[in-house]
Amino acid sequence: MTPSGFDIRPNAHPKDAALRETILENPGFGRHFSDHMAHIRWTSDVGWHGHEVRPYGPLTLDPAAAVLHYAQEIFEGIKAYRHADGSVWTFRPEKNAERFRASARRLALPELSDEDFIGSLKALLSQDNVWVPTPASAAEESSLYLRPFMIASETFLGVRPSKEVDYYVIASPAAAYFKGGVNPVSIWLSSHYKRAASGGTGYAKCGGNYAASLAAQKEAEAHDCAQVAFLDAAENKWIEELGGMNLFFVYKDGRIVTPKLTGTILEGVTRDSILELARDQGLTPEERHISIDEWRAGAASGEITEVFACGTAAVITPVGELRSEDEGIRLKADSGGEVGKRLRKELLDLQYGRSEDTRNWLTRL
Ligand code: COI
Repeated sequence: MTPSGFDIRPNAHPKDAALRETILENPGFGRHFSDHMAHIRWTSDVGWHGHEVRPYGPLTLDPAAAVLHYAQEIFEGIKAYRHADGSVWTFRPEKNAERFRASARRLALPELSDEDFIGSLKALLSQDNVWVPTPASAAEESSLYLRPFMIASETFLGVRPSKEVDYYVIASPAAAYFKGGVNPVSIWLSSHYKRAASGGTGYAKCGGNYAASLAAQKEAEAHDCAQVAFLDAAENKWIEELGGMNLFFVYKDGRIVTPKLTGTILEGVTRDSILELARDQGLTPEERHISIDEWRAGAASGEITEVFACGTAAVITPVGELRSEDEGIRLKADSGGEVGKRLRKELLDLQYGRSEDTRNWLTRL
């Protein structure tokens, strides 16, 4: 039993050490998984129970399980970082726990406490610490990506909140999310598809939002773009976010603007951290509406000097170009992405323990 009350059922057949080392040398993103997973069950009569860490492996679900039909599901993304002294830490897990509860409320799922959320990460890492990569250099961003998720597992085809729910955490060693690493990506502006509307699930981290983005993502890939940018559903004017990350715009005069949270945008933990780090670097962060016309005009006049995407998986990735059916918006001058690079370095230095954690953002796993 771990200090956070999880029973441990060790994997009798973990991947052998040589295979693990090969995976850790070049993990890619989301392709390989560690030896265990954490699990907690919820039933409407008992509440949360059965905390355990068990061997990683397929789930057994009844074909009539509610999640398979009505997508009652939420998830999170958070990373474990190995510091130079070998210790393993995570970044602002209470923010992910809070967002997970907000997502749960929206999807009519039960809420999980900070104690169980953070406890499940610690319990999993108590078994799978060897799966946290050691970055080869300060420029490298390898980590163990943790994916907590919650599914409606009741066998029932009626449309109502499930009375049985399962929560899991799986872990996947990860390098850069985009194949080109931190090179600028091109993104596609979907003229037709929308990600979220007012009153919908845009702010929740639920699978449905990502499923709904995939047709647009396919369109993006057909145009050699790595991600799709969505405009708001009401006016088709305001920039919201990319399929899986938030956006920032850097202005020549030191302002750094990100679309404000209106209920249709995911409240990224990286987004929130950048707002704070930017302020400390003497930049002027602004959370406000920003229109596609402002992007177009700012890029053309040189007022906007950088655009970057951010998220747990993406960290900070520069955006080189926005393409659409009838135009391409490119920044006028190549600023070298200096502001994004500086913020990225500061964020990574903090996460990997290379700078002092003055804000208490790190939690040891
Ligand atoms: C994350 O950044 O953790 C996400 O969930 C986004 C996804 C594109 C991997």
